[in-house]
Amino acid sequence: MSRVILGVGAGIAAYKACELLRRLREAGHQVRVIPTGDALRFVGAPTWEALSGEPVATDVWTSVEEVPHVRLGQGADLVVVAPATADLLARAAAGMASDLLTATLLTARCPVIFAPAMHTEMWEHPATQANVATLRARGAIVVDPAAGRLTGSDSGPGRLPEPAALFEIAEQTLSSLTDRAGSLASRRVLISAGGTREELDPVRFLGNWSTGRQGYAFARAAVARGAEVTVVAANVELPDPAGAKVIPVVSAREMHAAMLAEAPGADIVVMTAAVADYRPVTRSERKIKKEAGPPSPVELTENPDILADLAARRAQSGPAAQVVVGFAAETDTDPDAARAKLARKGCDFLVVNQVGNGLGFGTGDNEAVVLGADGSSAVIGRRSKDALAAAVLDLAAARIFP
Ligand code: CTP
Repeated sequence: MSRVILGVGAGIAAYKACELLRRLREAGHQVRVIPTGDALRFVGAPTWEALSGEPVATDVWTSVEEVPHVRLGQGADLVVVAPATADLLARAAAGMASDLLTATLLTARCPVIFAPAMHTEMWEHPATQANVATLRARGAIVVDPAAGRLTGSDSGPGRLPEPAALFEIAEQTLSSLTDRAGSLASRRVLISAGGTREELDPVRFLGNWSTGRQGYAFARAAVARGAEVTVVAANVELPDPAGAKVIPVVSAREMHAAMLAEAPGADIVVMTAAVADYRPVTRSERKIKKEAGPPSPVELTENPDILADLAARRAQSGPAAQVVVGFAAETDTDPDAARAKLARKGCDFLVVNQVGNGLGFGTGDNEAVVLGADGSSAVIGRRSKDALAAAVLDLAAARIFP
């Protein structure tokens, strides 16, 4: 059980915070809700009190004998502010203490997650962006809002991510307090996910079974540690991971271009994508017809090796500039072949996981051996893809902050 403070700003998305509160309570946490005064216009105090089982106050003049503005912040394991309005971000960045929530933010020494929600113009305004940068520089986790339908007829970035996604980030942040070293605050993490498709004609392609679940688990784990996360996603049909920037691609060559463009400045690069080694030499502009008879063997040509190229570029840009992690999904686990693949790719870690038998593609679980270029090897027993991602990020983070 952890002590969580749920700060609620005055935005229409306050109703989604009710669901987040319910999930936090069901997970066994003690949750104290601190709305701003105006937030109560959207969801009233009785709702917060009934759902949390705790009293609710917005100012520092209630239960003064307990000195709540100091005590609540000092005793918290985690503060989550959802929704965080532009006004609330500004007050937090300026260090104001004009109500119980902002006073609590000043006294809290635990991780703080802000989940902003507002209209796109307000989110993109330089003032808001500067406040977000200030909060991040101080170690707060600011989850980028999702894009989509906003209040009224507007749409664009500014939506509060779904409560389930925020709950996941809160849980991962709490567990990183106890068993993980790795804060990645203000670090950049670049991840490839999914499986590339190589088109034969407008309706057919050569592809693979990768769903992107392992890559999206990395995105969640990295966001929960405060990193700025970009995912290059090949044909992934999952909802975008909260707080990450997603760049959709289709083919290996598109993924190659996107990864190489995004890699400079990234602290950790993780290639979970299943990349087609070959593509058809030609793509028919028109659908290939059955009457033409069975196709003669499709002539293939080699795709670029993205991981090897990332590792080679990194090597040119100086020592220890970036940690590069590759994946190898294998049906046979031959340690010598895996070591040879690590050397061939030139990356720092190769996560070797067996596919088949309820593991790997499209399943919830994964187990792996992580080979290090320094000769190390670590066994990660069967666990969820989120837990595997967290364990691999621990190894990568330890390389950045030895
Ligand atoms: N990879 C890549 N570009 C490619 C092929 C693979 O970046 N064209 C990356 C994958 O994302 C993965 C790692 O390389 O992180 C290993 O992929 P794998 O398919 O196991 O490697 P291959 O070199 O294709 O070896 P194999 O002969 O086993 O297919």
